[in-house]
Amino acid sequence: MRVVDYDTQQHQDYARGRALTDRQLDVWLRAFEAVLPDRRPLAGLDVGSGTGRFTPALAETFGPVTGVEPSARMREVAEQRSRHPDVRYLPGAAEEIPVPAGSADYALMAWSWHHVKDRPRAVRELARVLKPGGRLLLRTNFRDHHPRPWWLEHFPRGYEADAAIYQPLHEVIELFTSAGWQVASYTTVTEPSAGTRGAMLERLRLRTLSFFAQLDADELETGFRRLEAAVAEDPEAPAPVFEEPLLTLTRG
Ligand SMILES: C[S@@+](CC[C@H](N)C(=O)[O-])C[C@H]1O[C@@H](n2cnc3c(N)ncnc32)[C@H](O)[C@@H]1O
Repeated sequence: MRVVDYDTQQHQDYARGRALTDRQLDVWLRAFEAVLPDRRPLAGLDVGSGTGRFTPALAETFGPVTGVEPSARMREVAEQRSRHPDVRYLPGAAEEIPVPAGSADYALMAWSWHHVKDRPRAVRELARVLKPGGRLLLRTNFRDHHPRPWWLEHFPRGYEADAAIYQPLHEVIELFTSAGWQVASYTTVTEPSAGTRGAMLERLRLRTLSFFAQLDADELETGFRRLEAAVAEDPEAPAPVFEEPLLTLTRG
């Protein structure tokens, strides 16, 4: 995939472009709750926490959370917009998580796994920081189990270019299980609609998705032109929903 540098791209617009409604956030929290132990508090890690889209809500629901994020600019936005008394943000990455061994009950990686460059190292580092039996919640896509957002079909090579960003599911599972992890569950989650198709188009124009970095200028222009024409037919219609995978792994 063409790499996205969040210190030079996206950090100004990410929070707006990728905002979740309260209902959407709640659906994710219920999905996370379903794969986490019942006891509270749980010590959490939000690895690749970005602008802190999930971090305060995780703290509110489960207990104290450390957001770990390599981009200084994304962390700055998180410090401004996503504060919570039980949240701290630290520089780091999945390959180098600045917390003691065996200190976390769970780690969430939401839309960040595909950015990890040294995945075997990340697998070892995640095992180091989790307690035995701790959970890793991988909210990522898989090349062979890829969501079909309604707008993607309008872009030339859209589905193909987006799917290519991600590893196949079996490859991710093999990476973890060969290092002693177990698969706890594989589910899909359907967020409630993000709003109207017109509002969604305005957010897509901010290009706060790795997908847009994979297309060239002509493909982007063609795609947005086609999408505008499709949305213009009924801009007030609710943006259609689609399923997104959630893979949960248990540290052995
Ligand atoms: C699409 S954003 C997701 C942010 C947040 N989890 C969310 O759902 O809004 C991807 C984030 O992963 C971060 N990232 C990049 N490389 C990473 C790595 N090796 N380990 C952890 N996070 C990384 C990026 O800096 C960026 O903030």
